[in-house]
Amino acid sequence: MNQTALHRMLALKDLKDLKKVSPQNLFDLRVTTNLPLIKELFYSLYKDPKHDLYFKELLELLPSLFQTRSDELKLHDLYLLKKGNWYQSENMVGMQLYVDLFNNNLKGIEEKIPYFKTLGINFLHLMPITTRPKGENDGGYAVNSYTAVDRRFGSKKDLLSLTSKLRAEGIYLMLDFVVNHTSDEYPWAKKALQGSAKYQGYYFMYPDRTIPDAFEASLPEVFPATSPGNFTYRKEIDHWVMTVFNSYQWDLNYKNPKVFLEMLSNLVAMINSGVDVVRFDALAFLWKNIGTNSQNLPEAHMLISLFRMCLQTIAPGVIFLAEAIVAPKEIIKYFGEGNREGNECDVAYNASLMALLWNSIATKKTLLLNKTLQNSLPKPQESTWINYVRCHDDIGLGLDDHYISELGWDPWLHRKFLLDYYCQGLDWSPAVGYQFMYNPSTGDGRITGSCASLLGLEKAIRIQHTAAIEHAIQKILMLHGIILSYGGIPLIYAGDEIGTLNDYSYLDDDHKKYDSRWVNRPSHSWQTVANLKEKETPSSIIFNGLKHMISIRKKNKVFADANNTILHDPRNPHLFMFERSGKNKEGVLVLANFDEHPQILGVDVLHSLGYVKDGTLSDILSSQKRKLNSGLMEVQPYELLWLAKP
Ligand code: GLC
Repeated sequence: MNQTALHRMLALKDLKDLKKVSPQNLFDLRVTTNLPLIKELFYSLYKDPKHDLYFKELLELLPSLFQTRSDELKLHDLYLLKKGNWYQSENMVGMQLYVDLFNNNLKGIEEKIPYFKTLGINFLHLMPITTRPKGENDGGYAVNSYTAVDRRFGSKKDLLSLTSKLRAEGIYLMLDFVVNHTSDEYPWAKKALQGSAKYQGYYFMYPDRTIPDAFEASLPEVFPATSPGNFTYRKEIDHWVMTVFNSYQWDLNYKNPKVFLEMLSNLVAMINSGVDVVRFDALAFLWKNIGTNSQNLPEAHMLISLFRMCLQTIAPGVIFLAEAIVAPKEIIKYFGEGNREGNECDVAYNASLMALLWNSIATKKTLLLNKTLQNSLPKPQESTWINYVRCHDDIGLGLDDHYISELGWDPWLHRKFLLDYYCQGLDWSPAVGYQFMYNPSTGDGRITGSCASLLGLEKAIRIQHTAAIEHAIQKILMLHGIILSYGGIPLIYAGDEIGTLNDYSYLDDDHKKYDSRWVNRPSHSWQTVANLKEKETPSSIIFNGLKHMISIRKKNKVFADANNTILHDPRNPHLFMFERSGKNKEGVLVLANFDEHPQILGVDVLHSLGYVKDGTLSDILSSQKRKLNSGLMEVQPYELLWLAKP
């Protein structure tokens, strides 16, 4: 049982009637129950006796931060706590969007609530909205403040108005907490640049290359093409500062407990605007040690858990999402392992599933997908995934070389093939994507492009090829149908619901043209939305198809994530098959064909799993019965079936 479940249990009686509840008493109870964990985590990171001082500071900070939370949010927290694991519900369907690109500003988002409702969206991830440097700012991931709303998006008042509307409409909100770094214009960075020793101690700053070189010996590069190395020289103070991401993003030094305390205050100030899910950005990088790659270190996990246990006492309704785009065996650790199980992040991006789906499209085979998923460790009971097809970032090929080799493929050649397939290296490929951060010395590279363009729609429209257009649409719907039915929260990238193609306008912007991720950060086309009803266009087929699948998901409890996703072997290298099973023997069998040709499935599997009645299957997606006439069932190219258990 994780701490949230424990808090729920201990508060069971009080939570019965939220009108009579005393938030203060329940806060005291949570502090008491979390304190041993908080203390242990704090002292395993901050071992020096002089750190006692900061522990005392933390003990005073918790109640004072609790007081900064509004009465309304204190109650909302308890409402969510009482609700149980709401984030695992079949009702959850999310959308990620850039506020300005979607509809100008925060007011514009409020206006579009009916749009979200039409599609069935009840969870929003708004990309960074706080102040940032004027020039390059990594799409707002270089923060000048954790709370001040950037003027282009509106005001604090607009944000509060939006979050209160969202709460009233039952729409959950996720915002980023850029926990690993600030911009070089952040007040602490500015003071450090003016020579303040205190604030220089908030970052990793060195007067010469000795320590930077020692770090570099084992640090990989995140943006090798545009921001090589992990340190930036600042002539103002003749120092080197650690900048793992871009040169203007300064890594925070959490070895300094003061940084943790201040960032905890920043976190609470941020969620006090009405945030339900905190996207803990780049959290794999939080702790740095010379001689390591400074990613996924045990101390990073302790630190995240420390943040989590503290925040939980203050705002028990708010949950954490791990933004760790790392190998499958590392991702799972962000839910918390061993005695921290369930006490780190509640949700994590399922980057493995995402990368494996793209791998399956390119190879038309599901072997690596099945092999990797079959061998993945189970996640804790209370946690869930965010399943996604595309997001604002590149597609990293986080595939396991060991499994690639076991399939008889050469890992290096396989990765090269994927890059060529998606990034226009092969004439016959339908994809129109771009390389991101290609590193010629290692051959490593990542892929960028919009979902529709990577799946062939852009090229098919360009050459006016009806069958290719149909295939692209089927692939878009099939991948989204998989993330909508696999256990977890499906997160649709805004624009993908109307088949948005690559956007090349970023090439005209000096601050963006070096970052090809912008090709998939288009302005939302409200003109396309206005035309959805008019005629059968690729956009309307995609939109209506998604809307239909979302409504079916919401009607079927088996789609809730109760760790009830079971993979089955389809005995056909092109098919993907998994089952969602319910408590009362109900079930849905999801079947997808990644090949451009029809594929067959042995009917015996369907019989043994109990999906055949009177020689027929029932597909809830098409509302059609399918008669089985032989021992083999045919699955059409890129077909997706959601078969209901009779
Ligand atoms: C995360 C964001 C990415 C950003 C990076 C640095 O990975 O998704 O867009 O560049 O953090 O903040």
